[in-house]
Amino acid sequence: MSRAAVVCGLGGALPATAVTNEELAAQLDTSDQWIRTRTGIGLRYVVAPGESTSDLAVAAGERALESARRTGNDNDTEADVDLVVLATSTPDRPCPGTAPGVAHRLGLGTVPAFDVAAVCTGFVYALATAASMITAGVARRALVIGADTFSTILDPVDRTTRAIFGDGAGAVVLRAGESSEPGALLGFDLGSDGGGADLITVRAGGSRQRSTGEPPAEGDQYFAMEGRPVFTEAVINMSESSQRLLDRVGWTPADLDKVVAHQANVRILHAVGEQLGLEEKQIVVNLDRVGNTVAASIPLALSDAAAAGDLVPGHRVVLTGFGGGLTWGSAALVWPDIEPVTQP
Ligand code: COA
Repeated sequence: MSRAAVVCGLGGALPATAVTNEELAAQLDTSDQWIRTRTGIGLRYVVAPGESTSDLAVAAGERALESARRTGNDNDTEADVDLVVLATSTPDRPCPGTAPGVAHRLGLGTVPAFDVAAVCTGFVYALATAASMITAGVARRALVIGADTFSTILDPVDRTTRAIFGDGAGAVVLRAGESSEPGALLGFDLGSDGGGADLITVRAGGSRQRSTGEPPAEGDQYFAMEGRPVFTEAVINMSESSQRLLDRVGWTPADLDKVVAHQANVRILHAVGEQLGLEEKQIVVNLDRVGNTVAASIPLALSDAAAAGDLVPGHRVVLTGFGGGLTWGSAALVWPDIEPVTQP
């Protein structure tokens, strides 16, 4: 038995405005049929004018804290949260980080709070960071949030990215515990390949462009992605990272009850399942209802699966993500007895 970070709360939040494929097809040269067959997505949510990433992060954080209270398997309260890690690539402002403001609005006092930027892998990176701080004894109880509002950085006329991405936030509470407990994070596999940095990027707005003293070239302020190579890299890296982690934890793919992979494209999820030799029932899918919500994707998929009863206590679970950077990462745990709190 050794000290471990244990998942004890789970929450999610979506903005109020849903955008259907039909609504996109009314604005852009696309169709419900193309989007569904090429991506599996039917719906995504977008923030209202003036709404930002921190608004969703605060809502998801509140709900994860409420979920931890309901779980109530320890005597701690949210007042005992002593760390906030926020995964996001769409911060409220380029500077400062968004996490301190989120911690402040949640009434968490002067706890350490910082952002992690690993795009769609952000949540797994944030989870590994917070878990490591807990096992090192630096923190006892952490709120880990993944939140993004990609609708604010998409090119309004780009039919591909607008079909795929949606806004949202998801969060978990981690507490110090033992590795033998359900909910204990049993291991991680993390990686990156900066050689692929240009495949998923916002070209303008950072020091590289600003130091030129020139205004950005038209369109460079928007998110850009090369769909085909990203698809291939996502399949390879989520499969290989999951397999490395399974080997480390001592599980086989057949031992797994659920893989909760980053919800980018249903064809990517099925290809990862094929690479790992999984059956369809082992793969969690919720992108049909929310699209690709970037750092929020994995915790929102967890919330949906747990709320639907597809993910139950005792299930052996691998989380796996892939995103810009390029980055990838996986985590393993036995699902705990917690009640997720999502939309009211
Ligand atoms: N509606 C209709 N047609 C579209 C479209 C849309 N929303 N988006 C792209 N197309 C078109 C393309 O323009 C292209 O047309 P062309 O043949 O006339 O040039 C055609 O569909 C095929 O494009 P292609 O890019 O080859 O399609 P695809 O099957 O690879 O699907 C993605 C495109 C983006 C859905 C797919 O590559 C993908 O999911 N990539 C990974 C994206 C991702 O996961 N990103 C986040 C990673 S963290």
